[in-house]
Amino acid sequence: MSAIKNKSVLVIGGSSGIGYGVADKALAEGAKPRADISGWTCDLADPNVEKNLEAIHKAGHIRFAVPLLLAKLAPHYLKPGYQSSLTLTTGAGGEKPFPDSSLVAGYLTGLQGLTRNVALELKPLRVNMVSPGVVVAPLHGPGGVPDEMKKYTTLGKVGTPEEVAEAYLYFMKDTNVTSSCISTNGGSLLL
Ligand SMILES: NC(=O)c1ccc[n+]([C@@H]2O[C@H](COP(=O)([O-])OP(=O)(O)OC[C@H]3O[C@@H](n4cnc5c(N)ncnc54)[C@H](OP(=O)(O)O)[C@@H]3O)[C@@H](O)[C@H]2O)c1
Repeated sequence: MSAIKNKSVLVIGGSSGIGYGVADKALAEGAKPRADISGWTCDLADPNVEKNLEAIHKAGHIRFAVPLLLAKLAPHYLKPGYQSSLTLTTGAGGEKPFPDSSLVAGYLTGLQGLTRNVALELKPLRVNMVSPGVVVAPLHGPGGVPDEMKKYTTLGKVGTPEEVAEAYLYFMKDTNVTSSCISTNGGSLLL
């Protein structure tokens, strides 16, 4: 029997891409479906954000401030103990420098420190992190992931949400793992 059968799983950003893949896999493994699942939208694409400082703040809001707030709220909603866990998402840009990505890299790398520290502060809740490379998702726009991105992996392909979702399911199921990061990036850190 799957370790997450009949367990409650909350996926933030589960309507598409990686989050949808995680929700789909968790349901397939018997996680408790909720009849009252609801969603809301919040458009961060504010056309008035012109000043650099505001742009920096905006880049960090969804990538860093929101995970920090989730970590703060987690103990209020998760059952106490190591059976419960929080899994955050960073990205390969936090592990390897890419041109024109310093702003985002700062936040992605900062999330690694946040994960380790929160894992200590929220113990015995478990806190882990997934670091995807390029993954096929609406994030990349209507044209999808450009074919040339495949050249930047050692596998000759980019990831799918179904593949990357395995990392999230693993963190839910291994009740011995905390403060850890799974990098799932098709070998892009090697090139
Ligand atoms: N795809 C990649 O190549 C890649 C690589 C590295 C890291 N990541 C990270 O993985 C995570 C998931 O990305 P994804 O590829 O699955 O992207 P995605 O397909 O675009 O999905 C993003 C999800 O987040 C929700 N969302 C986006 N902006 C939001 C906002 N301002 N407020 C509330 N919800 C919001 C979307 O909801 P709606 O459908 O309602 O907009 C959707 O459910 C992100 O943190 C991303 O940075 C992705």
